[in-house]
Amino acid sequence: MILVVGGAGYIGSQVNKQLNKDGFDTVVFDSLVTGHKWAVKWGEFVKGDLANLDEIRALFNKYKIEAVVDFAAFIEVGESVRDPQKYYYNNLVNTLNLLKVMGEFKIGKIIFSSTAATYGKPLYDQIEEGHPQWPINPYGWTKLMIERVFTDYDVAYGLKHVALRYFNACGADISGEIGEDHNPESHLIPIILDVALGKRKEIKIFGTNYKTRDGTCIRDYVHVEDLASAHILALKYILGGGKSKQYNLGNGIGFSVREVIRAVKKITKKEFVVVEGERRMGDPAVLVALSKRIKKELGWEPKYTKIEDIVESAWRWHRKKYKT
Ligand code: UFG
Repeated sequence: MILVVGGAGYIGSQVNKQLNKDGFDTVVFDSLVTGHKWAVKWGEFVKGDLANLDEIRALFNKYKIEAVVDFAAFIEVGESVRDPQKYYYNNLVNTLNLLKVMGEFKIGKIIFSSTAATYGKPLYDQIEEGHPQWPINPYGWTKLMIERVFTDYDVAYGLKHVALRYFNACGADISGEIGEDHNPESHLIPIILDVALGKRKEIKIFGTNYKTRDGTCIRDYVHVEDLASAHILALKYILGGGKSKQYNLGNGIGFSVREVIRAVKKITKKEFVVVEGERRMGDPAVLVALSKRIKKELGWEPKYTKIEDIVESAWRWHRKKYKT
């Protein structure tokens, strides 16, 4: 049995689906604070909180767990600056609780959702795993601290981990069964889709004077199904006795905010208001991954590299979500 912690969330639910399709038995453990029960359509479900050691122990007593895939975290950079305690408790302390119980039950394998935010301000454009890690917000620090904990726990207790550092997760399940539903939404693509649907009045570009090809920020948008396939590969690798690893997950292709807006207009065939606003604090101009390591070592190959394809899957889901 594979334990999917945070499996009711955007990325966790996609991985849970893929695991089941690949023949794994799963149990999702989720507090439903940000996740959705409707997103858990496969495997078993237990509602619970990593803040509660006894709930985690009960879970491990009930199911024979072989390995853990962990998505449970708060993910909003801005909120983490305003309320770091919330992030350090939820993302750091609660993950330590999970690792503690894994240790008690002698479960020594985990796949962990890390982030490009652990790199902080990029020193150069194409970021490989060896790029210095010095986050510029508490969210990034919580993820980096867990990566550090993994290293120490490996030496001391033999815990094996794969940390997957996502760049900009986006898109939706191609069959349209599940997708992104954050409340409040802060991510670029779903916000533009809201504008296209008339749910918001305009899209504001955060900064148009960056030193990039069109003045707007460039990001590496990686499709959620491609993230899911990377998790499956990482899990098989670690179940097969692999050593601890850290991998970037990105397409290696950067799209600017204006290019994303253009793709949304093309796919949705809608015209809408675009406003040029001030820069958002803490936004690096360019954040693009070099994901050679996971391609070479685990054979990962992202399928969705065209921004139009990514936007199309998100658009299909978005309309379904609002039943339009
Ligand atoms: N943006 C706008 N207008 C908006 C929303 C976003 O112009 O209304 C811009 C942002 O300034 C940024 C780009 O669109 O340049 C993408 O922004 P997102 O908020 O969608 O994503 P981020 O790049 O800020 O964040 C992502 C993940 C975080 C992670 C971070 C790593 O969502 O979890 O990458 O740096 F921490």
